Amino acid sequence: MPQPGHKLWGGRFEDGPDPLFRAINDSLPVDWVLARHDIAGSIAWAEAIAGAGVLTDAERDDLVAGLGRVWEKARDIHEPPVESGAEDIHTWVEAELTADLGDLGKKLHTGRSRNDQVATDFRLWAKESIAERLSELNALRGALQSLAERSEGVVMPAYTHLQPAQPVLAGHWCLAYDAMLSRDAKRLANSLDGADVCPLGSAALSGTTFPVDRDAIARRLGFARVSTNSLDAVSDRDFCLDMLSAGAFIGVHLSRISEELVVYATPGFGLIALEDAVTSGSSLMPQKKNPDALELVRGKSGGLLAAFQSLAVTLKGLPLAYNKDLQEDKPVVFAAMAELSLCLRAATRVIEAVSFVPERCREAALQGGSAATELADHLVERGVPFRDAHHIVGRVVKNAEQQGVQLQDLTASDLKAIDGHFGDNAPDCMKLEAMLARRDIPGGTAPAQVAAALQAARSECRALILPEVPDIVRDPSSVLR
Ligand code: ARG
Repeated sequence: MPQPGHKLWGGRFEDGPDPLFRAINDSLPVDWVLARHDIAGSIAWAEAIAGAGVLTDAERDDLVAGLGRVWEKARDIHEPPVESGAEDIHTWVEAELTADLGDLGKKLHTGRSRNDQVATDFRLWAKESIAERLSELNALRGALQSLAERSEGVVMPAYTHLQPAQPVLAGHWCLAYDAMLSRDAKRLANSLDGADVCPLGSAALSGTTFPVDRDAIARRLGFARVSTNSLDAVSDRDFCLDMLSAGAFIGVHLSRISEELVVYATPGFGLIALEDAVTSGSSLMPQKKNPDALELVRGKSGGLLAAFQSLAVTLKGLPLAYNKDLQEDKPVVFAAMAELSLCLRAATRVIEAVSFVPERCREAALQGGSAATELADHLVERGVPFRDAHHIVGRVVKNAEQQGVQLQDLTASDLKAIDGHFGDNAPDCMKLEAMLARRDIPGGTAPAQVAAALQAARSECRALILPEVPDIVRDPSSVLR
């Protein structure tokens, strides 16, 4: 009789596995985190095969209770119990169940395979993981929105080519990143939908022979629907690629904002200040305050991009249906989601620790000829064709550069001396607040537009609804009560 730790597949083998085979094959150290999901899936399966006439009601109740007790034991084991000798989490659960219930435990695997089992476990895990990332992403968006709110009225330079271009509200800058993260939230939600499919009943690859109610299994486990093709269901890891791709996008965006904040925190720019708590000093240079958290978020985004590529490369050459290569899915996805979680939470903390330096932002917003477009528009309003206006203002910029002054330092008569088309009110259009106010179109940086965009972003975040995790998945020992 199999004992805990014995293999699930020994009948046709005469020799035991080589230690190096065990080393490459055993997955318990990695898939131990799926214990709860494996037990929940097993509870649903025991109920399903009882419904199909494989088990009596009493046997079903004993199996379900036994599985509840296996979870009571598993939840207190914090390191993978490799000393059990179990090959993977499925083997461990079944061995524990059989040690508890004797021969009845051996009936559980009727009509199912580890192939549909692991796909189910992993999808249950993925749904929870994606929901957690969604709420972390929402918290980061909340921090950006709060930064926008507490920076009300702050005017900063916006750049193209990292050369000063035009002034914007600091809140507008914050909401640019919020817009990226809003798209990321949609991508994550989409990957949640992709994971929301129940493979149980596909068995090894061609579908189980027992007449189980697949819809009932899916409902019991909180899945939205059942898989439609058994060959695909046991070998499909697109839901993993979906979540890794959403994670890679988030990595790209977090890296961009980190890079920008690193630059803005240097004394040369000085547009933002960071709380000490998210920076570190130098062991040699006493003056240093380094934005390490931001640099690490930027650095870790490389790993998030690599994770997508790593799994895509694993999958791309696989024939149908299950192949053991698929076991390499979990280390990549588990690690990437842990890193993504850390990046999202650390980025949130850093955004909370950011403050714009209003005077410096204002000064920088005036530098570099950022009012040149306004002067050109002023000339256009006075009938000058834009192309000519562009040329005239180019001469004004050169003139200011030669005098070593900002455009805003030029008087109406200075301007008129360069070109007769300038009006008396030309200097007024170069005032920062006037420049902002003129961008009063949806998506523009005028204060009313930014305030409206902020409200829209706030209510989008408030509307986030996360899927409920059914009791047997959240806590499989709930079947004991
Ligand atoms: N540990 C395996 C995995 O993660 C479980 C499925 C094993 N299936 C099999 N036919 N050997 O992919």
